[in-house]
Amino acid sequence: MLFTLQKALYRARQRVMKLSARVVPLPIPGLLTGPGSLDQLAENISVRALKRVLVVSDKVLMQLGLPQRLLLALERRSVAYTVYDDVQPNPTIENVENGVIVYREHGCDGIVAFGGGSAIDCAKIIGARLANRFLSVRSMKGMFRVVLPIPPFFCVPTTAGTGSETTIVAVITDAATHEKFAISDLKLVPKLAVLDPELMVGLPPPITAATGMDALTHAVEAYIGLNGNPFTDENAEKATRLIFANLLEAYQNGTNLEARYNMALASYCAGAAFTRAYVGYVHAIAHNMGGLYSVPHGLANAIILPHVLRFCRAEAEPKLAALAVAAGLGVRGESERELSLRFIEAIEQLNQRMGIPTTIKELRAKDIPLITRRALEEAHPAYPVPRIITEAECEALVSQLLP
Ligand SMILES: [Fe+2]
Repeated sequence: MLFTLQKALYRARQRVMKLSARVVPLPIPGLLTGPGSLDQLAENISVRALKRVLVVSDKVLMQLGLPQRLLLALERRSVAYTVYDDVQPNPTIENVENGVIVYREHGCDGIVAFGGGSAIDCAKIIGARLANRFLSVRSMKGMFRVVLPIPPFFCVPTTAGTGSETTIVAVITDAATHEKFAISDLKLVPKLAVLDPELMVGLPPPITAATGMDALTHAVEAYIGLNGNPFTDENAEKATRLIFANLLEAYQNGTNLEARYNMALASYCAGAAFTRAYVGYVHAIAHNMGGLYSVPHGLANAIILPHVLRFCRAEAEPKLAALAVAAGLGVRGESERELSLRFIEAIEQLNQRMGIPTTIKELRAKDIPLITRRALEEAHPAYPVPRIITEAECEALVSQLLP
């Protein structure tokens, strides 16, 4: 009885969110696309009369020399820069605060995120903190809590997965509590994003696999949720089609520029879908695997995705069947039950072919109640999932991930 009432309340909140999304259209970043498109970014920054940008990246990318092309182009355009490369794989509030200090000390007037989801999310929150001195990172947790617009912000993703270059979301970890939480606001969308596949050719196969599965999870969760619209559906289907056609190739042949570009585009489309239609339980659970054990986000999603899809298969059957068709696994007119099962199996096979395990080796049974509580706190009522899960069902689902 209590659960039925709670479910009704969640659904009512989700409907309000769906209606408000129609009233407040989300901004779309300008795009520079294709091999070599990074070279156009410096020019786009210099015409905005920015004096010095903070380039937010990480140590691994700096050692690989990946940002060099951008830095040289900025120099040629007389745009000064300061590199802040202390972003950790699961960025923390401390990473944000240190970035804020560096930005102020060097008198920067714009931000360029250069890296995977961690660098982009950290850069977004650095921007939010800079513009809103009176708000702590924690106090911006949730939806629409960033009051003032962030400094001019540009994004150069070097992985194809997060879609953060087009989303309103940034995920951050509180190192003190190991809690990972999201800040969502229209002001976090960059002015410009660069989809340059040349930056992705050196991405190691395991990272290609995990980030690609993150993008697939965005597309699937946005598509099967209840808050989609024709725009998000089209983007989610396109992303699913591109991922099934290109991810394995990008994993096996990292230098294939066409496969890399198609994955970058898929990630962008999946981002455009989920930032409007939200994600679901896969993300809610995966965020905790990242917060508690530092499991890479995409890897956790890849492992959890088939389990959540089996849980809600019946409710999401027509949608999963449509995704199977988009993925080229069947044709319209076949049994929807068959197609939906085939889609879930194809995800499991894709995982297997890319060496993704079926369990989370860091997961401890004693943590399952905490993971469940935090995951449900994140998901309810924000995520318009096709089937609402109870605490007991969620604990059982997470138990399936035990090594
Ligand atoms: Fe994600």
